[in-house]
Amino acid sequence: MNKYLDLINSELDKYMPDGSDVVSRAMRYSIENGGKRIRPTLVLEFCRLCGGDEKKALPLACAIEMIHTYSLIHDDLPCMDNDDYRRGKPSCHIAFGYEYALLAGDALLTLAFKTAAEFSLDARLTVEAIKTLADAAGWSGMVGGQVLDLQNEGKKVSLGQVEKTDELKTGELIRASCVMGCIAADRFDMIPYAEEYAKCIGTAFQIVDDILDVTSDAETLGKPIGSDVENEKCTYVSLMGIEKAKEYVSKLTEKAKKALMNFENDASDLADFADSMARRKS
Ligand code: IPE
Ligand code: IPE
Ligand code: MG
Ligand code: MG
Ligand code: MG
Repeated sequence: MNKYLDLINSELDKYMPDGSDVVSRAMRYSIENGGKRIRPTLVLEFCRLCGGDEKKALPLACAIEMIHTYSLIHDDLPCMDNDDYRRGKPSCHIAFGYEYALLAGDALLTLAFKTAAEFSLDARLTVEAIKTLADAAGWSGMVGGQVLDLQNEGKKVSLGQVEKTDELKTGELIRASCVMGCIAADRFDMIPYAEEYAKCIGTAFQIVDDILDVTSDAETLGKPIGSDVENEKCTYVSLMGIEKAKEYVSKLTEKAKKALMNFENDASDLADFADSMARRKS
């Protein structure tokens, strides 16, 4: 599925401001390298799977990566997870200062909506996609999940609460990616199946993230390890242990692949993607 990587990276590059002011530089710095580009890849692949022209979905793919990158910049701030290392280099606030990292995040969020509003698609589809993006990113989505994540710190919360937190903080942007792919292809009828796939890989994705926070090393991961323990986060790993968490990832991955059977076209790339996300090392 890295078939889209160069396309996504070159397109993102076009949208970044080229000014020499500190916020333009911080935006470029954070978006520029290291990211796996999972969310934009899902946008493009769901669009293709639904019979659409994936090139037309590119603005939506870039928009979701901008929102994701902003979420990482803010997630690393001292008032959040306080992590100094991201995508293999010093976090945005270490490189540019807290205030400019905050503003670079704000600017990426705003640029995302301008980018999504580019009319490469029918205006009706663009509006639907923007609504999906806004719901997934805001208080009822990723931001809401980050709130729960902070409120859970230092507490022993239930598995259900961890599940809810992860569904919002990580699952929602992944869901929006898959759904926007269907919207770009004007296949609203496929959204429920895309959502089923997204729900499974979204949760599996965060569980693997939590496992890697314990088992990996900073060089491989491109971000610090041990952050969850340090911040007293309650995760699937802290509640179930690593082995059970891994078993759950396998179960979710199989379930995700089943949801793909509802698509008429060949979905084997998305099945392989689910597998590779479960096996990922970074
Ligand atoms: C990290 O996301 C944050 C989570 C939601 C777990 P990614 O693992 O997709 O980060 P990048 O984009 O590859 O850096
Ligand atoms: C982050 O979850 C989810 C976001 C909305 C950014 P984490 O805090 O576990 O992500 P990492 O491990 O810092 O990438
Ligand atoms: Mg966090
Ligand atoms: Mg974090
Ligand atoms: Mg993490």
